[in-house]
Amino acid sequence: MALVTSTEMFKKAYEGGYAIGAFNVNNMEIVQGITEAAKEVNAPLILQVSSGARKYANHTYLMKLVEAAIIETNLPICLHLDHGDTFELCKSCIDGGFTSVMIDGSHHTFEDNIALTKKVVEYAHERGVVVEGELGRLAGIEDAVNVSDADAAYTDPAQVEEFVSKTGVDSLAIAIGTSHGAYKFKPGQNPQLRFDILEKIEQRLPNFPIVLHGASSVIPEFVDMINNNGGKMPDAIGIPEDMLRKAASMAVCKINIDSDLRLAMTGSIRKYFAENPSHFDPRQYLSPARTAIKELVKNKIVNVLGSNGKA
Ligand code: G3H
Ligand code: 13P
Ligand code: ZN
Repeated sequence: MALVTSTEMFKKAYEGGYAIGAFNVNNMEIVQGITEAAKEVNAPLILQVSSGARKYANHTYLMKLVEAAIIETNLPICLHLDHGDTFELCKSCIDGGFTSVMIDGSHHTFEDNIALTKKVVEYAHERGVVVEGELGRLAGIEDAVNVSDADAAYTDPAQVEEFVSKTGVDSLAIAIGTSHGAYKFKPGQNPQLRFDILEKIEQRLPNFPIVLHGASSVIPEFVDMINNNGGKMPDAIGIPEDMLRKAASMAVCKINIDSDLRLAMTGSIRKYFAENPSHFDPRQYLSPARTAIKELVKNKIVNVLGSNGKA
């Protein structure tokens, strides 16, 4: 098995009413935890790399880790650039062996977003690589993704056909109320996704794969594990799992998860050190962290995404 694009995965996911998990990877333990989980439940996977991950771990290391995961699992895996912000970054990932890239032109005007996305699509398609575009803006804060609440704007369904037909993108990320990071909603807020907007988009783009960013549920078990072991995270609420299940049964074929992986890994490491303050062998605290990621991903695949048994 070699790296694959997401084309076949999305076609089956759309027809089957489930979604493919797109998990962010930054190091070996994260790649191993995710792919071992997917192997156990026979799920196709998208592993995605942000520009921050690429700076942290280096393109070649990440490529080789993902290639190793394919050898070990024999699963269909798509390697995707998350939030590419320039043509040059997308080109570098395409030339370097990625099978999918996102060009996130959502901070540009509609016209400039179309022009930039189209340029990436032309380069990618000539080389057999698929492209995700984005319309609408998510709130939230990540290293390289910072949009204030005030700037967040839902996707306008009236724009989607023109965007897709003029750019030729293979999938479209939309903003319907999710947001990046661990602080999506404050306690007392009632998280709601705009399924009415998703329905309108679905009607205008029949059989077209939609992508949901910012879809971590901010699982309380891991926030508590951090806070009960010396951490100080403010209370936060993520995207409820039943809403993700509903989105997956509709046109959403790719669901992006990063923050939940970070919380699971950090919670597990904090707990380990609280219980074993004298230990200093990284293998000792990275093993349970990898297992925490594996269990989290298995749970997402089986109970939220529905992609188990679909590889
Ligand atoms: O949406 C962004 C991802 O969570 C990646 O975050 O840029 O901090 O690697 P990062
Ligand atoms: P979360 O921060 O909700 O995990 O979203 C990740 C994401 O959208 C990566 O592109
Ligand atoms: Zn994102």
